Amino acid sequence: MLIFPPAKRTAQMRTLHTIVLITALAIGGCAKSAEDGGAAQGAADAPSGDALTPEQLEHGIGPVSAFEPGPIDDAMAAAGMELYKIKCSACHKVDERYIGPALGDITTRRSPAFIMNMMLNPVEMTQKHPEGKKLLEEYVAPMADQSLSREDARAILEYLRTAAP
Ligand code: HEC
Repeated sequence: MLIFPPAKRTAQMRTLHTIVLITALAIGGCAKSAEDGGAAQGAADAPSGDALTPEQLEHGIGPVSAFEPGPIDDAMAAAGMELYKIKCSACHKVDERYIGPALGDITTRRSPAFIMNMMLNPVEMTQKHPEGKKLLEEYVAPMADQSLSREDARAILEYLRTAAP
């Protein structure tokens, strides 16, 4: 062990501390990028957007297939609004981003079946559908499965149609 005069020794110790710190940061950085690489690899193994049918890509993954809703049913929309307040408003606002995206314009952005599949099957939608995956990446919080019946989801869709600009 080299003996330094006290003053020089302190300076030497400081240099040593700096080196240890830099090394620790560098190792931390490498571990992090290995983690990222691992995650990307995992995602590549999971069924990708390519594995979905064109129908699923447009209308989502879940129990509801493409359909054209008729004229707005006011009674159903009113029931849907009540359900929306209880089941959705904790995370969604009509006109601005909240925990999840604003939903006022959702019927102009997504098909009716896509919206219902998102309500009825949010886990698969955010894990397997390319649009759902993008949303989860952006909003980070996962949309909770509200265990809605198909009728409830249909009523909420009807309400969302009335909220459209
Ligand atoms: C716990 C919070 C939470 C609740 C409750 C919730 N959502 Fe979501 N929702 C989200 C988040 C966050 C996203 C974005 C995707 C993700 O991160 O999982 C989302 C995404 C969506 C999307 C897709 C939006 C788009 O731009 O395509 C729709 C549609 C949707 N939610 C409708 C609803 C409806 C209707 C309800 C009520 C039945 C509801 N959500 C309840 C958090 C929630």
